[in-house]
Amino acid sequence: MKKEVRKTVIAGNWKMNMTPSEAVAAVKETASLTAGKDGCDIVLCVPFVDIAPAVEAAKGTNVKIGAQNVHFEKKGAFTGEVSADMLTETGVGYVIVGHSERRQYFGETDETVNKRAKAALDAGLTVILCLGEVLEQRQAGITREIVSMQTKLDLAGFTAEEMKRVIIAYEPVWAIGTGLTATPDQAEEVCAIIRGVVAELYGGEVAEATTIQYGGSMNDGNAKELLAKTDVDGGLIGGASLVPEKFARIVEAAQ
Ligand code: PGA
Repeated sequence: MKKEVRKTVIAGNWKMNMTPSEAVAAVKETASLTAGKDGCDIVLCVPFVDIAPAVEAAKGTNVKIGAQNVHFEKKGAFTGEVSADMLTETGVGYVIVGHSERRQYFGETDETVNKRAKAALDAGLTVILCLGEVLEQRQAGITREIVSMQTKLDLAGFTAEEMKRVIIAYEPVWAIGTGLTATPDQAEEVCAIIRGVVAELYGGEVAEATTIQYGGSMNDGNAKELLAKTDVDGGLIGGASLVPEKFARIVEAAQ
């Protein structure tokens, strides 16, 4: 398992935070604090209405802008949804799919997650695919089974070529927004399990090249230890990404 063959990606997930004007200020500050830090890719996944101003504010910097969801149909009567073509035309390069909050509060299933991810890939986007076990599943000792199943269902039908644009974010649901972080060993163990499933599906070469992030209360205090693990290739960061100084320190830890 060699880290050198795959990209480290530090991505912020702003969730439902930041108005457009706040977004512009935060993108600019994040960009200036992380200027020249090219040891990892830096992405901020922002609310839909923030995308256009955020893309503008990120121009000429090493911050890339992502969205937090995408619909699987190309267009039509799907009130409240946004298509992959709308995202690409607005300058988005990345999109989060399958976040546990979408699964928990908005009824998303592995099937819809898979369809959304496929639509994003078809449009040329890079997908940050989130999966992870809930507390009861960890306590029942079935984390391996759960993440293996999610990995297989969520990636169903993707080609090896498409896998070059899939980042997997291992996010134990019990660690999200709770202040409880997986230990570096726990994060490493599950990221390695996921890589093993990718290897089963696509072979070792694709698995070695796949970026697998950890997410769940990652912050500027614990990032370095987590990112030091062989199979942890970055982070998906919620709360700490809202504070540019903290996010920049996580980017620093990834250098
Ligand atoms: P958190 O969120 O860092 O606030 O725990 C992570 C996520 O939901 O991606």
